[in-house]
Amino acid sequence: MRPIEASDKLQKIHSDIRGPVYEKSQEMRRAGIDILRLNTGNPATFGFKMPESVRNALLNHEEEAVAYCDARGMLKAREAIAAYHTSRGIAGVTPDDVYIGNGVSEVAEMLCASILNFGDELLMPRPSYSLWSNGAYLAGAKPVFYTCDEKSGWYPDVKEMEKLVTDRTKAVLLINPNNPTGAVYPPEVVREVVEFARRHELLIISDEIYDRLILDDLPYVSTASLAPDLPVVTTNGLSKSHLICGFRIGWLALSGPRELTAPISQCINKLCALRLCGNALAQLVVPAALEDEQSTREMCSPGGRVYEQREAACRALDELQAEGILSYNKPHAAFYVFPRVADHIVIKNDRQMAFDLLEQKHILLVAGSGFDWIDMQHFRLVLLPEPDELYKAVKDIGDFLRGYRQD
Ligand SMILES: Cc1ncc(COP(=O)(O)O)c(C=O)c1O
Repeated sequence: MRPIEASDKLQKIHSDIRGPVYEKSQEMRRAGIDILRLNTGNPATFGFKMPESVRNALLNHEEEAVAYCDARGMLKAREAIAAYHTSRGIAGVTPDDVYIGNGVSEVAEMLCASILNFGDELLMPRPSYSLWSNGAYLAGAKPVFYTCDEKSGWYPDVKEMEKLVTDRTKAVLLINPNNPTGAVYPPEVVREVVEFARRHELLIISDEIYDRLILDDLPYVSTASLAPDLPVVTTNGLSKSHLICGFRIGWLALSGPRELTAPISQCINKLCALRLCGNALAQLVVPAALEDEQSTREMCSPGGRVYEQREAACRALDELQAEGILSYNKPHAAFYVFPRVADHIVIKNDRQMAFDLLEQKHILLVAGSGFDWIDMQHFRLVLLPEPDELYKAVKDIGDFLRGYRQD
């Protein structure tokens, strides 16, 4: 018998966060080598603890989560999520517009399966966290990337979107705040994207999983709050804001005229029913977590870990920038930065660079091409280690780059 042929739909799927360089790092760890894992935004692996609000919500309530719950998610959790988005200015979100899944990852896949036909196009940012392009590929559709320009703070450029839109474009995706750039889009930029979607009658998808992790008191607007008359899907979750990636709690909320979103909700209802329900135990914590904005705010304020780690990384990056080794835009949200290695350090293959860094300095990171980026000079750093360790790691990366050549 011949080997079973794999599906073509998976050929383009990639996740460099857990790709070949990661595999090599696992091998090194098994051999007893200590690796600083800056490849994934997984706070608990750096000693971040879940907030007390979450712990208390879990304790003594487990009996409530023993049965399958509503396929869309527990009612109390969906009520809390609807109230959260309402408080962010999105009109008309009810618990019936909310679908809870095993992380944004699951609901993103459900959404792509629900809206994309073979050959359809999904406009999305690059650099880009690979979840959404993979969702498009899995649905047999095509991600079409608009470039976020580092010369303009990594903001999206609507003029480029205008050139990319075709009669197959189904939706436009914003990731705000952004992974991997740490950019927060000013309200006027978000408004431009909303107007673009309105002109072309596109669904807007707004991935806002980092909306509670904004630093420096930057103004922030939830996309759907600017588009009450348009169909918008907002995704969010507790993985990052409440440091519980492993709980797998994410959701999507539909907003806009119901007659426009009804076909999407019908499909998502079907997909939710197929998997019976999300993880009910984790859903127990949603109301308490969304009520507890304080713990996230503290982390992101001066003196808090997320803030101080960003500052430590930037101190080291500033020194490398002054030396001409790299340049970067200061991130204002989440825990990522996407620096650019100076041109005189020619990198022909950025995955090889990540591999060499791993071997020489025992630091694991993801190269820019893992984010569908257009050149070989970038990499993403995860800003989760404690400030001193992070400062040293960035300086070590500088030492590595200073002498680095690819033939
Ligand atoms: C922009 C963005 N969206 C979604 C996710 C997925 O989050 P989860 O599946 O844990 O909810 C991530 C994870 O890093 C992310 O960076």
